[in-house]
Amino acid sequence: MNFWSTMQEMLSPDDAGKSAPAPDAGRAGPAIKPLPEDALIIIPLRNAVLFPGIMSPVTIGRPSSVAAAQEAARSERRVGFLLQRDPQKNDLTPDDLHWVGTAGQVVRYITGTEGAHHLVIQGQSRFRVLEFLNGWPFMVARVSLVEIAEETSPEIEARFIQLKERAIEAIQLLPNVPAELAGVVQTLSAPTLLADMVANLLDLKNEEKQEILETFAIKQRLDRVLGLLGERVEVLRLSKEIGDKTRKEFDERQREHVLREQMRQIQKELGEGGETAAEIEELKAAIDEAGMPEDVHKHAAKELKRLQRMGEGSAESSMLRTYLEWLSELPWKAEPRKPIDLSEARQVLDEDHYSLEKIKRRILEYLAVRKLNPDGKSPILCFVGPPGVGKTSLGQSIARATGRKFQRVALGGTHDEAEIRGHRRTYIGALPGTIIQAIKRAESRTGVLLLDEIDKLGAGGFHGDPSSALLEVLDPEQNSKFRDNYLGVDFDLSKMLFIATANLLDTIPGPLRDRMEVIQLPGYTEEEKLEIARRYLVKRQLEANGLKEEQVILTDAAVRAIIGDYTREAGVRNLEREIGAVMRSAAMKIAGGQAAIVNVDAADLHAILGPRKFEDELALRTALPGVATGLAWTPVGGDILFIEATKVPGSGKLILTGQLGDVMKESAQAALTLAKMYSGDSLEKTDLHVHVPAGATPKDGPSAGVAMFLALASLLAGKPVRSDVAMTGEISLRGLVLPIGGVKEKVLAALRAGIKTVMLPRRNQKDLEDVPAAAREKLEFVWLETVEDAVRCAIGGEPAQLFSRDKQEDTQAGRVFQ
Ligand SMILES: Nc1ncnc2c1ncn2[C@@H]1O[C@H](COP(=O)(O)OP(=O)(O)O)[C@@H](O)[C@H]1O
Ligand SMILES: [Mg+2]
Repeated sequence: MNFWSTMQEMLSPDDAGKSAPAPDAGRAGPAIKPLPEDALIIIPLRNAVLFPGIMSPVTIGRPSSVAAAQEAARSERRVGFLLQRDPQKNDLTPDDLHWVGTAGQVVRYITGTEGAHHLVIQGQSRFRVLEFLNGWPFMVARVSLVEIAEETSPEIEARFIQLKERAIEAIQLLPNVPAELAGVVQTLSAPTLLADMVANLLDLKNEEKQEILETFAIKQRLDRVLGLLGERVEVLRLSKEIGDKTRKEFDERQREHVLREQMRQIQKELGEGGETAAEIEELKAAIDEAGMPEDVHKHAAKELKRLQRMGEGSAESSMLRTYLEWLSELPWKAEPRKPIDLSEARQVLDEDHYSLEKIKRRILEYLAVRKLNPDGKSPILCFVGPPGVGKTSLGQSIARATGRKFQRVALGGTHDEAEIRGHRRTYIGALPGTIIQAIKRAESRTGVLLLDEIDKLGAGGFHGDPSSALLEVLDPEQNSKFRDNYLGVDFDLSKMLFIATANLLDTIPGPLRDRMEVIQLPGYTEEEKLEIARRYLVKRQLEANGLKEEQVILTDAAVRAIIGDYTREAGVRNLEREIGAVMRSAAMKIAGGQAAIVNVDAADLHAILGPRKFEDELALRTALPGVATGLAWTPVGGDILFIEATKVPGSGKLILTGQLGDVMKESAQAALTLAKMYSGDSLEKTDLHVHVPAGATPKDGPSAGVAMFLALASLLAGKPVRSDVAMTGEISLRGLVLPIGGVKEKVLAALRAGIKTVMLPRRNQKDLEDVPAAAREKLEFVWLETVEDAVRCAIGGEPAQLFSRDKQEDTQAGRVFQ
C-alpha cells in the first residue's frame, strides 16, 4: 500500500518517446461532430483504475487520448476512463478494454514537455459500455451510468464501520501515507465512497482494482475491500514489527521531509506551485468581472483572501480554489433579451416538427403571454406522452424559437435531494447540484432549462426528497433566491424558462404537478410517421452516416413497412433507429464499392433488418376460442393485449393470473357472472382461468371488462373471436357497457396493430373527435350498449343461439381434460 509511489507510477509518461500533436492541433482540424447524448469520450488508461470520488493525476501521450482530453476540456464533457487489458498495447480496439469504468471530469490539463500531457482527473460515477461508436478521432462509447443508491441496512452499516476502523488502522501503520488521510476517512459518511477510496489506496494489481470497480452491489464491495484490507493490515503489522527493530534509525522527520519533497516534485510536474500569486490575481479578476450581486461578491472576496493565506498545496486550498472558480464562472449577469417574435417562433416550430398543430398553438399562446408580461409568473409547461413523440425536441425547439440557450437536466433516477441541490462544500468531491451545473453549461440564467422525465424522479429516501428541491426551483416565489448547498449563496433562477417532460402524469408528485400546465402528446398515426420520416428522420440518418441524399432511395413503401412490421410504438424513436440501420447498411455497400446508389424497397428490408417483428401476431393469437384482443392505455401510449381464458375440470373457481389490479379482478368476476348467465351453464365442475398479460396498468382495470367477457363467452361457445376486432369497455352486472378513458391512445394502438374494427362503449362516441381523421377513416367503429352487441360483432350470431347450439360441443371440449 504505497500511495505516493503509486501516484508517481501513474505520472511516469505512459507513452514516453512517442510523438503527440501540439495541444491545439485538435482545433485546427475539421469541426468534431457532436456526440450522442448518452455517449462518452473514452480515454483508455494503461495502468490505473480510476474510482468514483477519487482525484488522480495521469499522463497521456497517445494522439487519440490527447485529442480526447482536448475535446473533453473544450466541450466540458465528461470522460469515460477504461482500463486496458494489456498495458503494453498501443493501438486499441474495444476488445482490448474493460467495459466497466468510471466517468469523470478532466479537472486540469497541463501540457508537459516532450509530448506528454498531464491531466488531473476526478472520478464521478461507474458506467458500463453499451457499444463503441466510430467517427471520432478518439474512442467514443455509448454507455449506461451505474447509479448506485446509497442504501443503508444494519449489514451495510456494520461493514462500513468495520472498514472505517480498519482503514484508519492501516493508514496509521503505513510508512508513507499523509497523516491527514485518517481524518478524511473518519469524516466519510458514504459506504460506497469509503469502499472505493480504500480500494484506491491499497496497492492492488490493476485487475484486482478493476474487479472491485465492477462489484456494483455495495455489500459485496465492502466485503471484498474488507478482505483485501485485512490481509494488508496483517502484513503491515508484521513488517512494522520487523521494521521497528531493524530500522530504528529512520527518523520520523526525515520521512516527512522526503514526503513533502515528493509532493513538491509532483506539483512541479503538474505545473502547479510557483504560479499561485498569478493564479490568485486571475481568480480575483474573474470574480470581479462575473457580475455577482454585492453580497455574493463580498463573500467571494473573503474566501479569496482565505485562499491566499492558506498557501499552496494543501487539499483544502485546491477545494477552495475549485469553489471560487465555480462562483466566478456562473452566469450572474442577465443578458438583455430580444423580445419574442411570434411569427418567427411559429416558423421555427414548424421547421423542427411536423404536425402537432394543437401543441404548437398552445406553445405560441404561452410565448405570447410571456411576451406581454416577460417577468410575469407563467406556469411551467409540461409535455406528457410516450417515448419518441418529440417532447425533448420540442423543448429544444422552444429555446431556438425564443433565441435562448438550451440545457437539459435528466431527472430519471434522481433519488437524492443533493443531486439537485448539491453537496455541502465540506463533503469530499462535492459539486453543485444538477440545476446549477446546467446553468453553468448554458452560460446563461435566462435560457430554457428542460427538466426531462420529471415523472421518473425517485422517491425521497434517506437523503431527502428530490421533489421538494425541484419544487423550490420551480416556485416563482422562491426561485429568485435558489440556494445550492455547494455554492452556499443565493442564485436567481426566476428568469429561467423551465419546461418539463414526462411519460406519465400519475407518477409526478402532486405538488409538482400543480405547478405545471400539462400538454399531452398522444402519439402519431402511420401517415404522420411517414411524413416525419420523409421530412426529418431520413435526412438526419443520411447525414449521420455520411451519405448524400441522392445516394440512397428509401421508398415510401419501405418506410411504411418499417412502421408496420418492425416497430410498434406511439412515437418515432424505433422508427428512426431502424432507418439508421438501413442507412448503415447502405453506407457499407457504397463504401465497399458494391453500389453507387442504393435503392431500398419494402422487399429489401428482410435482408437488412431481419424477419418482421410484428407479423401476424393477431391472427395467430386469436385463432382459438377463448382469446379476445383488448385495448389498454399504457404509460407509453396505448397497446393491444390478448386476454386469454381456458377451462379445466374443477369446482367452479375463477383463477386469475397476470397483471391484474383489484379493479380488474372485480371486473373479471362480473364478466364471469355474465358469461355464466348467457351460456346458461353454472359451471360447477369447471374452473375458469383468465390470464391478462403484462402491459395494462391496474388503474385501467375496468376497461378490460368487455374483452374479458368476450374471452369467456368465446371459450364457452367454442367459437373464436374475430382476429381483426379489438375492444375496450367496462361492464355492469346487467350487461351494460360503460364508458372508459384513453380513447385516442387506444384507437391509435389498434390501428398500429393492424386491427380493422374497434368496439367502443356508445357513451364514448363523443371522444372520437380527438382521434386524427386519418386514423378514423381507416377503422370501422362499433358502438356498444350491451355485451350482446359485442358478441354479435366479434363472435357473430345472436347470443342466445350461439350458446344453445354449442352447448354439446362445449361439454365435449371439457372432456379433453378428464
Ligand atoms: N413531429 C415531429 N416532427 C419531426 N421530428 C419529430 C417529431 N416528433 C418526434 N420527432 C423526432 O423524434 C425523435 C425523438 O424525439 P424526442 O424528443 O427524443 O422524444 P421524447 O422526448 O418525447 O421521448 C427526435 O429526433 C425528434 O426530433
Ligand atoms: Mg425525451
